[in-house]
Amino acid sequence: MTPDGSIEPALLEILIAPHKSLKTKARPVGPEDWDQVRALVPRMFATMYKAPGIGLAATQVNVLLRVAVVDLMPDNQCAPLTLINPEILAVSETWTTREEGCLSLPNQYADVSRPSEVRVGFLDLDGKRQELQAEGLLAACIQHEIDHLDGILFVDHLSILKRNMIMRKLAKEMKQKAAG
Ligand code: NI
Repeated sequence: MTPDGSIEPALLEILIAPHKSLKTKARPVGPEDWDQVRALVPRMFATMYKAPGIGLAATQVNVLLRVAVVDLMPDNQCAPLTLINPEILAVSETWTTREEGCLSLPNQYADVSRPSEVRVGFLDLDGKRQELQAEGLLAACIQHEIDHLDGILFVDHLSILKRNMIMRKLAKEMKQKAAG
């Protein structure tokens, strides 16, 4: 129960790389999927806040539908953004490099370069068409989440050498964690 007496949505298990689903392209949400999506989104937010993280794609909880949630928590206030069937409509010519991490690659970080600004079209939880111009961390986060829906991880933007190094380190750390 939350302080206001509402029932906390059940948390979802976050897949850890390497996992086949994380490499799989998710399919668009269709009319038949909306009941599932409306039930899924609150659970995705709860799972993301608990982790804690600033973005989570349905792919990461093994639901292969084009749904992602984002919240940068500006000034420690919730600013939830639900992206259903998101599409990058335009990108800036300028690129920005920033350090990224991912809940599916815990404790792994690397610099990733992406377009600095993006215009994204998506459906909100009411099924209404929305457009958003994003820059800074939000732009990077949205691109990172849309990548997930296409089966792409942030390490896929790195050199093979760097990627392999991170994947080996992650595997070693997960093995140590499992061994206690
Ligand atoms: Ni991620």
